[in-house]
Amino acid sequence: MKLFYASASPFVRKVLIVALELGINDRIQRIDVATTPIQSNPDLAAANPLGKLPALVTDDIGALYDSAVICEYLAAEAGSATMLPADGPERWSTLRLQALADGLLDAAVLRRYEKAMRPTEKQSADWDEGQRQKVVRTLDALEVEADALGGEPTLGTIAVACGLGYLDFRFAHEDWREGHPKLTAWFNENWANRPSMADTAPQG
Ligand code: BEZ
Repeated sequence: MKLFYASASPFVRKVLIVALELGINDRIQRIDVATTPIQSNPDLAAANPLGKLPALVTDDIGALYDSAVICEYLAAEAGSATMLPADGPERWSTLRLQALADGLLDAAVLRRYEKAMRPTEKQSADWDEGQRQKVVRTLDALEVEADALGGEPTLGTIAVACGLGYLDFRFAHEDWREGHPKLTAWFNENWANRPSMADTAPQG
C-alpha cells in the first residue's frame, strides 16, 4: 500500500498511528508530497481528485480517502475487533468520537491555513474566532467525557490524541490544557509517551 504523506498533516498522523497500533505499518510505503489547498500536488490529485491528504493507494481496490475511510480499511485489513468495533453501541460511540476529533482538527487546520496562507490584509478575525470557538467547545465536551475515554487505542481515541497533538504543534501558545485537567491527565497517561506518537511527531 502507498500512502500520500506529509509529516505536518494531523490526518496523515492519525492513519500512521492506527497502522502502527495495528502492527501493519511496514505494509505502508510513504510518498512524501508537498501540497496546499491552493496548489495540489499532481500525483496526489490523480489519486484523490480533492487533492487532499491522506490518500491510500491499496493493492486491491485502488485509492481510498479520507482519513476515516482509510483508518476503517486498515482496521479491517488487520482484523482488529477493538480499533473499530463491528457493531453495537461501542461502534457508534467510536465513530462519533472520531467525528468530533476530526471536526476539531478541521477547525484548527482552517485556522492554520488562514494565518499561514492568506495575505494578512485578507484574513478575517471573526472567521478565525468562529473556528477557535469550535475547538474550545470540543475541548470542553471532551473534558466532560475524559474519564470515559479509556486507554484502548481506537479510531476515536487516536483521533482525539492527534487533535491534541496538533494543537500542541501549531497552537502551543493557546495551551489547550488550561481548563481541561481531566483531558490533560488522560493524554499524559495514555498518549504523551506512547511510541506511536513519538514515531509520528510532526516536523516543520
Ligand atoms: C500544517 O502544516 O499545519 C498542515 C499540513 C498539512 C495538512 C494540514 C495541516
